[in-house]
Amino acid sequence: MIGGSMERRLQSWSWGAEFEVMVVGVMLMVLVQQSLPLRSSHPLHDVVDRINQNAGPYIGLVMAYSTEEDALHLSGLFIPSSDTSSVDLAGRRFNIGTIKGVDVIYVMTGEQTVNAGITVQMLINIFDIWGIVHYGTAGATSDSLLIGDVTVPEYFAYTASWKWTEFKSERQGLPELNVGAYNYPTKGENLLASIEFTPVELYSNGEQMEEIFWLPTNPTWFGIASQVQDLQLQQCLNDTYCLPNTPKVVHGVRGSTADIYLDNEAYRDFLFHEFNVSTHDEESAAIVMACRSNGIPCIVFRGISDLAGGGKKLSLPSLSSLAAANAVTVAIKFIELIGNGNSTYSRQDQ
Ligand SMILES: *[C@@H]1O[C@H](CO)[C@@H](O)[C@H](O)[C@H]1NC(C)=O
Ligand SMILES: *[C@@H]1O[C@H](CO)[C@@H](O)[C@H](O)[C@H]1NC(C)=O
Ligand SMILES: *[C@@H]1O[C@H](CO)[C@@H](O)[C@H](O)[C@H]1NC(C)=O
Repeated sequence: MIGGSMERRLQSWSWGAEFEVMVVGVMLMVLVQQSLPLRSSHPLHDVVDRINQNAGPYIGLVMAYSTEEDALHLSGLFIPSSDTSSVDLAGRRFNIGTIKGVDVIYVMTGEQTVNAGITVQMLINIFDIWGIVHYGTAGATSDSLLIGDVTVPEYFAYTASWKWTEFKSERQGLPELNVGAYNYPTKGENLLASIEFTPVELYSNGEQMEEIFWLPTNPTWFGIASQVQDLQLQQCLNDTYCLPNTPKVVHGVRGSTADIYLDNEAYRDFLFHEFNVSTHDEESAAIVMACRSNGIPCIVFRGISDLAGGGKKLSLPSLSSLAAANAVTVAIKFIELIGNGNSTYSRQDQ
């Protein structure tokens, strides 16, 4: 099981001859099996070994906070493994089981990008994972999305990587937020000057570091996800309160991520107009980046729980539950579609 992922890593190194790759591969696999997934003296070493041998490769299913995890429980579709059903590592609980017969390990990462990145890296290093499915809630930055809709973004931008420029400095041509343009009641100048958006550094297997603004989800998985359209999603909170719209799956928008709880109409509008992003959340870009660093396919489903500022205030806490429930419905349908069978095919598809 570990051999598979090691092979994948080796394939992306640029060795001259295939023969060399094979020899080095065999040597490394031996070394790696002695030292991974957890050091041999680790109290959970044998447990993790068994999890990786008994089943898998697994889909890693990740969500950020408890409302999102609860939605999975409420679906009743995650069946815990009868052997070891969970392992606690670094304060996270990795839950082992199946969804519709597909081997899955799910984990709640904690909110924001650092928690999300750390947890996905652990999941990939410690367990035999062939792809990551991420679901959660998001705020809409575009008026065209409605509460309860589930987005399947093709790209994410990390929109909190900034150069904060000097007052009266020259504009560089990169997207920029000019603070004075938002003075109230009249536009003007402002000593906070402007914020220039910058790309992030992407490190990945066998590649030079790349500066990248738009982080793509996996194209094959994104394509497969287009089949998940006509699902019936939840429209009512209870017997008396229903949303005016029938929630739908929206495939192909762009999303933004920052460690910011966004509740500001001017900034939401700026993000939409400058970057054409339809959603804002606090984890997705980090998860997609962790997947790309490791050459693992990744897809994101985000249910709209509110507008990220302005508009009619409809922020009932239960709307987050509804948004999370709808995102889970789409994520589970996707997991059912990809099944266990295509793991080998998808592993090589990077
Ligand atoms: C249904 O949900 C709405 C919104 O949260 C709430 O105001 C109402 O009291 C709920 N009705 C029932 C019967 O629980
Ligand atoms: C903005 O994104 C949508 C998809 O979300 C796309 O259909 C549209 O063409 C994009 N607009 C621009 C100006 O790029
Ligand atoms: C499985 O992989 C094959 C290619 O080997 C592809 O044609 C098919 O669409 C995939 N099925 C799913 C559900 O991903």
